[in-house]
Amino acid sequence: MAQVFRERANLFMRLGLLGLAILPGSLGLLGFSYYRSSAYTGVGRYVEQPVPFSHRHHAGELGIDCRYCHTGVEKAAFADLPPTETCMTCHSQIWTNAAMLAPVRKSLADNRPLRWQRVTSLPDYVYFDHSVHVSNGVGCSSCHGDVAAMPLMAKAEPMTMGWCLDCHRDPAAKLRPEEAIFDMRWQPPADQPAKGRALLAHYGTRAEHLTDCSVCHR
Ligand code: HEC
Ligand code: HEC
Ligand code: HEC
Ligand code: HEC
Ligand code: HEC
Repeated sequence: MAQVFRERANLFMRLGLLGLAILPGSLGLLGFSYYRSSAYTGVGRYVEQPVPFSHRHHAGELGIDCRYCHTGVEKAAFADLPPTETCMTCHSQIWTNAAMLAPVRKSLADNRPLRWQRVTSLPDYVYFDHSVHVSNGVGCSSCHGDVAAMPLMAKAEPMTMGWCLDCHRDPAAKLRPEEAIFDMRWQPPADQPAKGRALLAHYGTRAEHLTDCSVCHR
């Protein structure tokens, strides 16, 4: 919340300054600050869901593996969202009458999937693939933040082209060993430059072409 407030305050300050300087071109400036602000990219903003599903509770405290619900993440382009049956493996036995879970029970009874609101989603003209990242040293938290600490899901990174390219220009700075891919709190160690180079070779990654337009726009 603190962060959301700070970002807002920042935007309001910009707007305030604009009010003072009534100059030609100020509308362009407004457009520019908006484009760069989190109000545009949605970073840090919690998204309302049909059920207040908590990653902090399920992935953090209960320690359920990400792959239990996001079954495609290592093998496919899409990570997948879990079907209602996955929730019901547990919730047909625990918290069976909780009001909070009524939409889950209704979804099962009516055989209609829950309509989860997307938090991170790219425009259709961008090609993205989970498995290529996850099986080559890029961990979830580099793109999604510390998911296991989130009561409701919020976008952690802007997911703009510039942000993708930041890593594609120098992926060695972010690469991790296999056992750290699902570690939501991973931080690069002090000797990351040397480790990163070794990991590039280990995964057989050829980084020279990662900034070609055709990598993401096919
Ligand atoms: C018990 C099932 C379950 C587990 C375990 C789980 N998730 Fe999720 N995940 C969900 C559901 C349901 C949603 C959709 C609702 C939401 O966004 O909170 C979701 C949404 C997400 C999203 C947002 C996708 C989008 O674009 O809207 C990300 C990112 C994510 N999960 C990452 C993870 C990571 C990383 C882990 C492991 C640390 C994990 N999840 C563990 C069920 C789960
Ligand atoms: C592996 C077992 C398991 C799975 C799978 C599971 N849950 Fe839970 N869930 C739990 C447990 C345990 C609790 C905590 C009950 C308590 O606090 O005593 C819980 C609590 C909840 C709550 C109550 C609020 C909270 O987080 O404390 C909601 C809502 C919920 N789950 C939704 C879901 C949804 C939606 C899914 C499917 C995407 C799901 N759960 C999948 C075990 C599971
Ligand atoms: C290199 C960045 C990156 C990494 C690493 C990454 N994701 Fe994602 N994730 C994304 C992007 C971008 C999207 C939106 C994709 C789209 O809209 O086409 C996304 C979407 C999702 C979704 C929504 C369903 C889907 O596939 O669109 C889930 C769930 C998810 N990610 C979970 C995970 C988990 C779990 C991990 C770690 C095992 C992970 N992600 C690693 C960038 C990443
Ligand atoms: C934290 C680092 C990181 C971020 C952020 C990241 N990538 Fe990547 N990406 C990589 C690495 C490393 C590879 C090369 C993996 C390999 O082939 O060994 C890669 C490969 C890819 C490939 C496959 C290239 C091929 O050879 O087929 C696509 C497509 C891609 N990324 C798209 C994206 C998009 C779109 C985004 C932003 C939403 C993004 N990536 C963000 C690190 C990153
Ligand atoms: C690593 C992935 C990646 C590469 C490489 C990449 N793009 Fe993009 N591009 C994206 C993503 C993600 C978006 C959508 C998000 C955004 O608008 O920033 C995007 C959006 C765009 C847009 C629409 C921008 C807008 O404001 O609507 C254009 C045009 C574009 N890219 C052109 C290019 C060109 C030209 C190249 C090569 C010089 C390139 N891209 C290379 C990921 C990439």
